[in-house]
Amino acid sequence: MLLHLLNVITAYRPNKFSKQVKKATKEKHDAIEKHPFIKSMIDGTLSDFKYAIYLNNLLPIYKAVEMFLFYSNPVDKDLLQSRKINNDLNEYIRLLGINIDRPEYIFNKEWLNYFLFKDKFLQKAELYIRWLADMYGGQIIKRNIRFNSKYNFNDLRNEIKIIRRMIEDGLDEANVERFIEEVNKAYEFHRQLADKINELPERSL
Ligand code: HEM
Repeated sequence: MLLHLLNVITAYRPNKFSKQVKKATKEKHDAIEKHPFIKSMIDGTLSDFKYAIYLNNLLPIYKAVEMFLFYSNPVDKDLLQSRKINNDLNEYIRLLGINIDRPEYIFNKEWLNYFLFKDKFLQKAELYIRWLADMYGGQIIKRNIRFNSKYNFNDLRNEIKIIRRMIEDGLDEANVERFIEEVNKAYEFHRQLADKINELPERSL
């Protein structure tokens, strides 16, 4: 696993602006990595119910990123994360036999609205935090997730390069600080989502 992770981390040599983004958002990354909700995914104590709610809330964010950012820049279908999430969600719905679209399980409205109305370049903040989370942390997270196709990539090293190049395209001196602000905001939305799902009572059987 460690060798696999090392292979993933060395996939791409980031440019100076990417390095700046990583440095300036490290605090938020490390906080989300240690969030009890994310920790429970890693140690295998997160219920299928809560993980399904999590996926269902993330799905519209992934779909929006794909619709806005991949439309003019088509990518290999292995990078269409929403397809994999849909498949995983269908498996959970079959397993649990529940309706996860109930209003009390939806926590993504603010994040989604915010995303939809922002500048196209700044929308890449979600591409950055969601796709790279699946590609890096996801390789650890997936070990204890029942239906985990979201974290599976046919050619991870190459796909990391594609996503990183998309992010670096247009990232420069003039907008890097703004981009950092957006990444920190996207982390914050993610943290709020993790808090909300963590607080939910388990579904009684
Ligand atoms: C189990 C939890 C997690 C672990 C162990 C983990 C671990 C890692 C590792 C090892 C890297 C590569 C760092 C490098 O290039 O040196 C990374 C990068 C990254 N992770 Fe995580 N991560 C976790 C959760 C998350 C979550 C939940 C998110 C987003 C919500 C996230 C977003 C990112 C992003 C955006 C990067 C790219 C940073 C950059 O190079 O600019 N990670 N993570």
